[in-house]
Amino acid sequence: MIVTAFPESFLTELTERNDIVEVVSSYVRLSKKSGSNLFGLCPFHSEKTPSFSVSPDKQIYHCFGCGKEAVEFLARRVNMPVPEEANDRESKKRGRMLALNKDAARFFYEQLSAPGGAPARDYMKRRQIGRTTATNFGIGYAPDSWDALRSAMKAKGYSDFELFDAGLVRKGKNGGFYDTFRQRLMFPVIDVRGNVIGFSGRILGDGEPKYMNSPETLVFNKSRNLFALNLAKKSKSGYIILSEGNIDVVSLHQAGFDSAVASLGTSLTPEQARLISRYTGEVIIAYDNDGAGIKAAQRAIGILEKLELKVKVLRLNGAKDPDEYIKLKGAEAFRQLLEGSENQIDYRLRTVTDKYVLTEPDQKVAFLKEATELLARLPGAVERQVYAMRVAELAGVKGEAVADEVERRRKRMLSAARKSEARDQSRPERQLQPEEKSFRYDDPASAAAEEGLIRLLYLDPSLSGSAALPAPEDFSAPVLAHIYAVLLEKARRGDSLSTATLSGALSGQEMSLLVQLLQKPEQLNRGETALNDYIARIRERKELAGADTDLRALAKQFREKKGYEG
Ligand code: UTP
Ligand code: MN
Repeated sequence: MIVTAFPESFLTELTERNDIVEVVSSYVRLSKKSGSNLFGLCPFHSEKTPSFSVSPDKQIYHCFGCGKEAVEFLARRVNMPVPEEANDRESKKRGRMLALNKDAARFFYEQLSAPGGAPARDYMKRRQIGRTTATNFGIGYAPDSWDALRSAMKAKGYSDFELFDAGLVRKGKNGGFYDTFRQRLMFPVIDVRGNVIGFSGRILGDGEPKYMNSPETLVFNKSRNLFALNLAKKSKSGYIILSEGNIDVVSLHQAGFDSAVASLGTSLTPEQARLISRYTGEVIIAYDNDGAGIKAAQRAIGILEKLELKVKVLRLNGAKDPDEYIKLKGAEAFRQLLEGSENQIDYRLRTVTDKYVLTEPDQKVAFLKEATELLARLPGAVERQVYAMRVAELAGVKGEAVADEVERRRKRMLSAARKSEARDQSRPERQLQPEEKSFRYDDPASAAAEEGLIRLLYLDPSLSGSAALPAPEDFSAPVLAHIYAVLLEKARRGDSLSTATLSGALSGQEMSLLVQLLQKPEQLNRGETALNDYIARIRERKELAGADTDLRALAKQFREKKGYEG
């Protein structure tokens, strides 16, 4: 990226401290496209069609027209101060907001012990939340008042606008400000560095909305933080317990399960999963025991497994959530549950089993079909065998029959996969077409050579001196001709070639295509031969096309003549 406003040394350090693969995969859902090239939605600006390309092996990516945002984003990520006035201002603002949040948290905490805090203390008693736990979490109380927090914070020198930006007050119809949180049990959300970044306030008892959360602010991003991770990261347990509710987390910690966290009222995001993976290699999901919880768990499994985290799922039989489970059966029962928690194969198998009534013959058949399909996908032969026996037992059929069926399905699956791979490779023209529809190549055979030439030139700009090189006009694909012309000019001038230095001369879509074609394999050691092959092919195709055009032109003349005469 070219961002002239920042000193070179700063940018170098910034890029060194941000591993590109880690950065990208934590914010962008990348889908695999041609070769080893990955595509996703650009994380720096909003867009609907993926135009953000990443090369995991070459460590290059390209984002279009948003270099500045990228720098600020990356700097924040590794906590580096950005050397620019505007960002000084922003970082001061963040500092003020964090100080305000801390003061607000202290205020709420004090209110819990104040005479007015009786309703909150009663509620905590009812929910069996002890004093020590409250202190540990910094739980507080937002009193029954329109401006208790506001006046206390103004007395400390914070302005209405600062309070508003932090989401602690709202604007009334008459233009005045009033406290956002009133008559609520307050849970501060604290990040892993110990900053109070926002609040979650639960109503005392029943009522709507049950929770009120801080809005997204300069310092609060729900999808990138987890409730109680500041505490859980210190746990010695070796795993993280992922639950849904704040109360569940509080209750779990109180019962000695100090590695519980919750996502902040949203389903687990990839960023949160990435954050978890920094602290542990194993996640135990303890979501609510209802339809929504099961669905959410299945989604979470997918996200967590992508990060190679070991995932287990708890079955909270007889309780609606971890909090209720502990209240009903005690901490010891929960510990046993944790120790015996199902791995994700058990869990998936159980989910399939629960769908069918196995005493009904036709349902039994459907169950066997779905279960053997599931097992066929397991990579380990021993695992397949063991689980085949389990399935057979569940369905009351012979073990070998199920095991054979699983292996048959696996063979069929593998051979189908191999065939489709072979099919893809035998259709070079299809694979060759660029992502961008308007760039479709008329002559894929020539375009392949044109792409190759561009690749060689990019990898070895000294080739630009070769007299044998074709002119851009000899190319069949206009977009490749343009990219080639730009490369050639820069290389001949001795400019360095990089996606950064080229982004000024090429459009976003052209950059994307360039990054994409640079991913395709090229062997530099046979550069000379390859170069000659590419040049020969481009020439040959041009002559063919030329002949074609001549014929077409003749035919056209002929038709026009006839029309004129007739
Ligand atoms: P729950 O309704 O399960 O809340 O929502 P809970 O914390 O377990 O509370 P109890 O035990 O029922 O009293 C799970 C989480 O979803 C978010 C909160 O973060 C909550 O902890 N949530 C819930 C909201 O953000 N807003 C709501 O209105 C409800
Ligand atoms: Mn709950």
